[in-house]
Amino acid sequence: MVKPKIAPSMLSSDFANLASEAERMLQCGADWLHMDIMVCFHQITSIITLYHMCSNPHMITLIGALQDGAYLDCHLMVTNPLDYVEPLGEAGASGFTFHVEVSKDNWQELIQRIKSKGMKPGVALKPKTPVEEVYPLVEDENPVEMVLVMTVEPGFGGQKFMPETMEKVRALRKKYPSLDIEVDGGLGPSTIDIAASAGANCIVAGSSVFGAPEPAQVISLMRKSVDEAQKISC
Ligand code: DX5
Ligand code: ZN
Repeated sequence: MVKPKIAPSMLSSDFANLASEAERMLQCGADWLHMDIMVCFHQITSIITLYHMCSNPHMITLIGALQDGAYLDCHLMVTNPLDYVEPLGEAGASGFTFHVEVSKDNWQELIQRIKSKGMKPGVALKPKTPVEEVYPLVEDENPVEMVLVMTVEPGFGGQKFMPETMEKVRALRKKYPSLDIEVDGGLGPSTIDIAASAGANCIVAGSSVFGAPEPAQVISLMRKSVDEAQKISC
């Protein structure tokens, strides 16, 4: 039976108060803090600035230092994840999840380097990427330890959950009963049961948690949903 891990996405937090937002989420019962690291090409300078702030390894160091022991679940939406292994390892990242679409030629080297920096390797796939593409990475003798199934197109918070991606979660759970399977995008009280019953146990949620009057209630509801679904499947 896999354990629920509820991971608020800091992309939806108040960036001007990142450290206290992280603290608030941990007090509300978050297991992990999800950190989206991406390179954006928006024309609006302020958006570039904000994204770079969240993506910057220094921010990860800051949160890691202030929230000693917090699990920093880093999701790399970049085309060159290898370049980020060293800085994120030094910054104190806990999980390092790269996208399979950009790592076809170097995933074995990536996994090995991520582990050598003491981080947990994960692989992510976009909604249209076939699930079979991650099987070799889970079955390798030096495997990834988590698969992140994107439930929206990567890039922004606040998008609508894509239920068709659940087929991939079901296939993964059937094949790998004890694997950590993460879902990311559009998760909240109205979609958690679909994802949990498909077999997801690591739940990323940005707008539904940060936008809630009582984030602790949303976190607890999502944890219960995963727990219930896991009990039924055992
Ligand atoms: C989207 C990011 C997500 C995002 C989720 O590309 O990977 O982590 O912050 O936000 P919500 O939960 O609002 O869809
Ligand atoms: Zn993410």
